Amino acid sequence: MLLQNRTAVISGAASARGIGLATAKLFAAHGARIAILDIDEAAARAAATELGPEHLGVACDVATKSSCQAAADKVIAAFGHVDILINNAGVTQPVKTLEIDEASWNRIQDINCKGVLFLSQVFIPHMQARQRGAIACMSSVSAQRGGGIFGGPHYSSAKAGVLGLAKAMAREFGPDGIRVNCVTPGLIQTDITGGQLTDEMRRDIVKGIPLNRLGEATDVAGIYLFLASDLSAYVTGAVIDVNGGMLIH
Ligand SMILES: NC(=O)c1ccc[n+]([C@@H]2O[C@H](COP(=O)([O-])OP(=O)(O)OC[C@H]3O[C@@H](n4cnc5c(N)ncnc54)[C@H](O)[C@@H]3O)[C@@H](O)[C@H]2O)c1
Repeated sequence: MLLQNRTAVISGAASARGIGLATAKLFAAHGARIAILDIDEAAARAAATELGPEHLGVACDVATKSSCQAAADKVIAAFGHVDILINNAGVTQPVKTLEIDEASWNRIQDINCKGVLFLSQVFIPHMQARQRGAIACMSSVSAQRGGGIFGGPHYSSAKAGVLGLAKAMAREFGPDGIRVNCVTPGLIQTDITGGQLTDEMRRDIVKGIPLNRLGEATDVAGIYLFLASDLSAYVTGAVIDVNGGMLIH
């Protein structure tokens, strides 16, 4: 039990096959009390109910500061304290550079990158007051290699922004006992690909992965657990690849 008596907030954790919900289940199995924050309020509540009565499902649009603040107020009032924040919410769009219109650029940047800023901003003062906290942020291999498979250039840009933001926050808040780290997954089998991954594409992609398979949501959940727990007590500003060797650098 790595998270006994800890409380964790996980954004984007309502979708059934997603990385966030797999993380919520693993954290709960390790003794944590979980708040699932998601833009889909009904799904967030249902997911929390499935986890058990001590867990919470809260509506939150990470791209809107007031929504993040309202969610933080609710969680802190219910739990009393928050030890862990997992900035996991994100969306993608498979388009090329010349096809990106301004609304799409803004949507992808706002949810993937600005959302990490806003949700961190509303929990950090609470963590500072307690002089402890662990924050993990979702980036992507797409940020490192100039595109994944389903994300467009705006997605690569937003996820690269997350790396810079998280490292800067790690430097700024280390003296307050707050650690900030990132994960950079390769292709993980969730619903974010919107059913567009054909068997042929899957075979081609796997050829470039030394571990010879696509990732599972639980593969990423395990790394979030490491970053949330005291196993990583002396780790901050780090980026952990979860890509089966798709990118070795
Ligand atoms: N699946 C992959 O291959 C992969 C690879 C690298 C990174 N990622 C990242 O992992 C994270 C989780 O993705 P997933 O694959 O589990 O996909 P998913 O679609 O299953 O989960 C994304 C979740 O985010 C929620 N969400 C969307 N917009 C939101 C908003 N504005 N505010 C709050 N919640 C919102 C959705 O409702 C959903 O529950 C994302 O940040 C994604 O970019 C995924």
